[in-house]
Amino acid sequence: MTIIDVPASRNYQVIVGSGLLSQAGNQVVPFCKGNTAAIVSDETVWGLCGSTLEASLKAAGLHVIYYTFPAGEASKNGENYLKILNFLAKNKLTRSDVLVALGGGVTGDLTGFVAATYLRGIAYVQIPTSLLSMVDSSVGGKTAIDLPAGKNLAGAFYQPSLVLCDMDALSTLPQEIFRDGCGEIIKYGVLYDKALFDKLLTEGFSFDREAVIARCVELKRNVVAEDEFDTGARQKLNLGHTIGHGIEAQSHFTVSHGEAVATGMAIVARAGEKAGITSGDTVCAIHEILEKFGFPLNTGYSSHQLFTSALSDKKRSGGTVNLVVPREIGDCILLPTPIEQLQSFIEAGLA
Ligand code: GLY
Repeated sequence: MTIIDVPASRNYQVIVGSGLLSQAGNQVVPFCKGNTAAIVSDETVWGLCGSTLEASLKAAGLHVIYYTFPAGEASKNGENYLKILNFLAKNKLTRSDVLVALGGGVTGDLTGFVAATYLRGIAYVQIPTSLLSMVDSSVGGKTAIDLPAGKNLAGAFYQPSLVLCDMDALSTLPQEIFRDGCGEIIKYGVLYDKALFDKLLTEGFSFDREAVIARCVELKRNVVAEDEFDTGARQKLNLGHTIGHGIEAQSHFTVSHGEAVATGMAIVARAGEKAGITSGDTVCAIHEILEKFGFPLNTGYSSHQLFTSALSDKKRSGGTVNLVVPREIGDCILLPTPIEQLQSFIEAGLA
């Protein structure tokens, strides 16, 4: 078991290990001064591990209620957000009670935003069950719902009280969803850690899950400690995302987030090489690792299509988008790029 302390506007621990779900009750109790834990989960995850969590919370003396919704990004909307708020109000949850998010990024983001706003803020615990949510979305307090105009357009920075990453949850994860999380793990290597990158390149999918997840959480912790509210250093976590979000949006979300980000990294690295920023060896290494994990190195969408999606991205600031561009593995820069130069930058990376 590995424990990582996150210093932020609320300090908390991320615990990475096995068997955590069945021991969750004792870990959650300290954050519940009342006696009710409200679990929020999607129907798929609830069917797989809801009863284990419920039994553990009850064994620790908590009264348990739960709310489930259909799995998938489409559920991360205003309607479900309001339904959950009404469910909590109907059950008279107080600020002394606790919410528990059991699931992947959709569940964590949605529950976190409910927690940030119900009674102006109630404690919540993240129990991520996908690789992607363990290494990224469950840590750092970004909570959100999607609006018809785009992803994550309404939300809040609101830190959890505890994050439990149970390795056992990964055993039921379909391979393509596991691979999706690998895209984000590779991203951490490219951004900050050549040793992690080399380990993934050597070991492929058979990497030591607990060690690699804990390392990614540590790296994210460092970023959140430096820039909780995303005004500088945290923006580097968007490596591959500006173009990746374009690929996701153009595909109407049939291309997964991890795959889109992986391809986005390859495109930005090739564009970076043409701009004299990224070394040729770095482009080759990124291509090699993406091929090892079965990610496409390019997309069929045009620079105009990707540019159009980038314009509606919330990472845009006035007339500029902060692109994240690798120089070497483990060393990336923020490149403020005027909108009028963005399409040609993307075009250079597609070639
Ligand atoms: N997922 C990017 C961030 O937490 O900043």
